[in-house]
Amino acid sequence: MGLERQRKLKNRCAKEALGLIEDGMIVGLGGGGTVQCLVELIGEKGLDIQVVSPSFQTASHCVARGLTVVPTWSVENVDIAFDGCDEVDMHLNALKSGGAIHTKEKIIASMAKRYVLLVDESKVFERLPFAHSVTIEIVPESLGYVRKELAKLGADVSMRTSAAKDGYTMSDHGNMIMEAKFDGVEDPKRLNRQLCGITGIVDTSLFVGKVDLVLCVDENGTRWIQ
Ligand code: 5RP
Repeated sequence: MGLERQRKLKNRCAKEALGLIEDGMIVGLGGGGTVQCLVELIGEKGLDIQVVSPSFQTASHCVARGLTVVPTWSVENVDIAFDGCDEVDMHLNALKSGGAIHTKEKIIASMAKRYVLLVDESKVFERLPFAHSVTIEIVPESLGYVRKELAKLGADVSMRTSAAKDGYTMSDHGNMIMEAKFDGVEDPKRLNRQLCGITGIVDTSLFVGKVDLVLCVDENGTRWIQ
């Protein structure tokens, strides 16, 4: 998909999402380009809201647009939260990954009365294809053990690497980030339970039972999955 077409779709999706936000709300804003468009629109409309965000980039964009950002730990509830994802299915299972901030994203998703994913139709499937790997945050001490347990589940495991900290990507919580690629998954709910049951895994980028609404957009308009 061309960049210009992508930008238009993200903007259309964000415009529709804007209608769900009211003055006085505590609003979660995740990462990605569609959320960036939504931040612009909230700023233009001058909505009087408080924002919580798992993403430093989104939080600084909000501040630059004059929005009030508060720490997630300082609130008990979130009225509505918006986020992007890489894959989502008709059963409201979703797979995220990119920023290695999924643990913080899941905290906000759990706190939100409504957790809404904003996507274009290319990310929507009848069942999650698992074309992307599951990103996993682990306590560094558990590296060898978690790698062995993931291999037992049939995952092809790799470490997320970067230039810093001995070549490993570290989460904002000082943990390591692993990628587990599965070759077809029958039951995402079961997989999520198995992964979260492995000691040392903090959380995964597989979202099961967290998503309330998906707003999908294409050239012909928007539709909701709920
Ligand atoms: C990373 C994500 C991102 O939020 C998602 O990829 C953003 O998508 P877009 O830029 O299309 O809004 O899930 O884990």
